[in-house]
Amino acid sequence: IICCIKKIFSEKRYSIFFIRMIENLHMVSQKGMEISMKQYQIRSILIGCMLLCLTGCTANSEKKRDVLRVGVVLYTQDDPFINALTDCLKEDLAEYESDSLKVIMTVRDGKNDQKIQNEVVKEMLDAGCEILAVDLVDRTEPSNIIKMAKKENIPVIFFNREPVREDLMQWDKLYYVGCDAEQSGIMQGEIAAEYINSHSEVDKNKDGKIQYVLLEGEAGHQDAISRTEYSVKTLMKNDVMLEKLSYQLADWNRGQAENRMNRLISQYGKKIELVMSNNDEMALGAVEAYRKAGYAREDWPVIFGIDGLEEALEAVKAGEMQGSILNDRVDQAKEMAKMAVELFEGEDFEQESLKEGRYYFSEYQKVDGSNIDEYLNAEETISHSGM
Ligand code: GAL
Ligand code: CA
Repeated sequence: IICCIKKIFSEKRYSIFFIRMIENLHMVSQKGMEISMKQYQIRSILIGCMLLCLTGCTANSEKKRDVLRVGVVLYTQDDPFINALTDCLKEDLAEYESDSLKVIMTVRDGKNDQKIQNEVVKEMLDAGCEILAVDLVDRTEPSNIIKMAKKENIPVIFFNREPVREDLMQWDKLYYVGCDAEQSGIMQGEIAAEYINSHSEVDKNKDGKIQYVLLEGEAGHQDAISRTEYSVKTLMKNDVMLEKLSYQLADWNRGQAENRMNRLISQYGKKIELVMSNNDEMALGAVEAYRKAGYAREDWPVIFGIDGLEEALEAVKAGEMQGSILNDRVDQAKEMAKMAVELFEGEDFEQESLKEGRYYFSEYQKVDGSNIDEYLNAEETISHSGM
C-alpha cells in the first residue's frame, strides 16, 4: 500500500487531486461546520476507494510492459556495413518484444570524433538507457565511456571496433561482439590465390608476377592491420609471386578509394593486375574507377573485397569483382540483441558461451564465383549458424 501511495504521489495529476481533497476538508472544518462522525467516515471511505482505484490503474499500466532502452552509438552514420548491421540489430531486438517487454532502440552518431561520441554516450545515459552498444571512434580510447557507464551501472556491448583487452577487463559488464580480423585476411588471400592460380590471364604482362595495389581501411584499425598483413602473406604462401605497386589508405570509403584508384590508373595504366581491398566499399570504389576509365573488361585487374555487401555480391555476379569475404552482420546483430535482452533481464546470461566470458566472434565466410548464388539476395539467411 505504501508503495502504491508513493506511486500516486509520483504522478503529478494525482497528487494535485489529493491535495485539493485535503484542502476541501480543511476549509469545511475552518468554516466551523460540524462534520458528523458518519459523514467523516463516508468521506474517508470515498477517498479510500478513489485511492484504491487509482493505485489499481497505475499498477495495471505498470504491470503491462517492462521497457528496455538500448542506446546504440556508432562511430559514424556514413558506413554502409555498420548501417546494415544496425538495421539487423533493430529487427532482432524487435523480435524480443512481447506483452511483457517493450524495446526502444535509439541510434546516435559519433561523427568520427571520440569527444563527440563520449558526449553522445553521456546523453544516452542521462536519458536513461539500460544497455549501451558502442562502435568506438577510437578503439584505444574507451576509458571515458567505461567510466560513465560503470558509474550508472549500465552494461556496454562494444562492437566492430575492438577495445584492447586491458580496457575490456576494466569492469565485468563490458563485452565485445565482432570477428577475428586475421581470419578475413587469410580467407581473402586464399580466394585470391585460388583464382589467380587457375586463371593465367590475370598475369596480363606474363612476367610471372602479379602487380598489385592494396586499399587499406584506416590506420590503427584492427581489421585494416590484420587484413593487409594476412591477405598478402597468404597469397605468397599459396605460391603467388607478388610485386607491390602501391598501398593506399582510403578510410573504408568508396569515394576516397575511387579517387585513389583514379590516380593509380593514371600512374600505372594497365599494369595493375590485382586490387586487394580491406573492405567492399573500397573495392566498389575501384570498380567505379575502372568503369569510368572506360577500360575493356580484359584490361581490368581482378578485385577482391571483404564484408559481403549486397552491391559487392552483385559485382561478383557481374564479373566486376572476383570475390568477397562475408562479415556476418546478421550473426553479430543476433548475438548483440540476445546479449542486450539477457543482460537487461539479469537472469541466465550465458557468459559461458563467450570467450573469456566477454568476447563473441562471428565466423567469416568466403564468397566467390563458385557459391555467389547462395549468398546473392539471401541476406536474411546469411549467418554462419544457418549455413
Ligand atoms: C569493418 C568493416 C568495414 C568498416 C569497419 C568500420 O569490420 O569490414 O567495412 O565497416 O569495420 O569499423
Ligand atoms: Ca604481371
